[in-house]
Amino acid sequence: MRKQIAAANWKMNLTYQQGTALLQAMVNADISLSENQAAVFAVPFPYLEMAIDTIAHKNFFFISAQNCSDKKSGAYTGEVSAEMLKSISLTYCLVGHSERREYFGESHKMLADKVSICLTNGITPIFCCGEALQTREANQQNVFVETQLRESLFHLTEAELLKIVIAYEPIWAIGTGKTASTEQAQEMHAHIRSVLEIQYGEPISGQISILYGGSVKAGNAREIFASKDVDGGLVGGASLIAAEFIEIIKALK
Ligand code: PGA
Repeated sequence: MRKQIAAANWKMNLTYQQGTALLQAMVNADISLSENQAAVFAVPFPYLEMAIDTIAHKNFFFISAQNCSDKKSGAYTGEVSAEMLKSISLTYCLVGHSERREYFGESHKMLADKVSICLTNGITPIFCCGEALQTREANQQNVFVETQLRESLFHLTEAELLKIVIAYEPIWAIGTGKTASTEQAQEMHAHIRSVLEIQYGEPISGQISILYGGSVKAGNAREIFASKDVDGGLVGGASLIAAEFIEIIKALK
């Protein structure tokens, strides 16, 4: 059975003190996950070690970075390498969030390199994809997302692909309060799975967790996660409020 994941993306929010308090509230919450479920927290770089220590004794809680460099090491001032993340025992990293693609010019090739360098360092990339509103309005979303997958993931071997998580995040639903309908989400998740199936075969595509992101909240998580091909969510705004994110974790299948 595919892993069901609730992933928090704090983005560039919260002070160190606020972040510590939020994680402590999450750890103290009455949440018991099974082997097949995970709660992941993508926190800012300076908080990673604190976060890893805070969740250390909580079963099936994990910490993620929000980004890493596509380069191995060297003269890249301000960048953080996957090897550095591995050296603090980090297990997950977001790759290719639409905000990184849009504001920091991250290309398909750069993201392909980031996925590979994460895997080389034993870090699970949560690979984000998703279309803008005008692409959806032109009914080009399927081909758009397929290109994102093809260009940044199809260099992977079967064994490598099995180690990644995908997050479908329609840009028009991120931080807007608009979510994709359950039908729109299920339809795109099924499409993503079929694209993977054509390239890698059903036994592989059937095992990849595909998360939905875009205005997931306590009030809509259960309905969104219920769809057959939706294996949890990547959550921004609502993950900054303990009570909201606790309910989102509890909504996992
Ligand atoms: P949102 O963000 O939940 O605030 O829409 C989701 C994301 O960008 O990962």
